[in-house]
Amino acid sequence: MVTGQPPSPDAQLGKPGGPLHRSLCFRPRMGASAMNEVSLGAIELEHSPAMYAWMLDDEVRVNVGVRAVPTLERTREWIVRARKDEATEARAILVDGVYVGNVILDQIDRHASKARLSIYVGEASARGQGIGQRAVRLILGVAFRELNLAKVALTVHARNGRAIATYIACGFSVEGVHRGEFLLDGERIAELYMGILRSEFDRLSELRVIGENSGDGSD
Ligand SMILES: CC(C)(COP(=O)(O)OP(=O)(O)OC[C@H]1O[C@@H](n2cnc3c(N)ncnc32)[C@H](O)[C@@H]1OP(=O)(O)O)[C@@H](O)C(=O)NCCC(=O)NCCS
Repeated sequence: MVTGQPPSPDAQLGKPGGPLHRSLCFRPRMGASAMNEVSLGAIELEHSPAMYAWMLDDEVRVNVGVRAVPTLERTREWIVRARKDEATEARAILVDGVYVGNVILDQIDRHASKARLSIYVGEASARGQGIGQRAVRLILGVAFRELNLAKVALTVHARNGRAIATYIACGFSVEGVHRGEFLLDGERIAELYMGILRSEFDRLSELRVIGENSGDGSD
């Protein structure tokens, strides 16, 4: 996503705990429960300061596999490229309209009818509340309903338990283990290849609708 360049002076500003990062911090309402509405929106250039700050957070940087030192300029360039690229559908994750992260389909291959998914809930305070799962389901809706793809796949390192649990909850299966594929703090660890087919997504969507309706007025 970003490539090497020395850290810019404004890097300090956006560092976790720094003034920019604090000002953008997501503050959940009502204990950040299922009450919060999760939606997807376009990624705009105005999102670049928040996105840049998240790239400096080790939880995002390490797990997403960002290779080089991020800069605000490179973050802006990434947004411009992603918006133009026909093989990319990058969306902002919004919680009650507040920007908290990104979910991305890239390597969209219309011939093979498949794409790769990646996600990060950048605002640390917004993690672990079901927002990731809801955002993944929404982008799968884009993949299978809007783009009419047949398969979405991703890779995740084997120690990222929260991400793996999120993908499993959304219907992904582990299709393979790539041994020693991911470099985590200098250690080579396994990476899982996970995927979901449109037929599986359709079935899970039906089950969710049935589950939601079966609770209506029955007691
Ligand atoms: C991974 C990520 C997108 C998940 O989104 P989230 O909103 O934090 O996660 P959710 O609250 O939707 O779901 C978390 C699930 O993981 C489970 N979980 C949390 N920590 C876990 C752990 N260490 N091991 C296993 N499961 C774990 C939770 O119990 C929950 O499952 P449940 O709803 O069935 O109880 C988010 O944490 C994130 O952006 N992390 C940093 C970047 C990253 O890792 N991106 C993915 C790269 S592949």
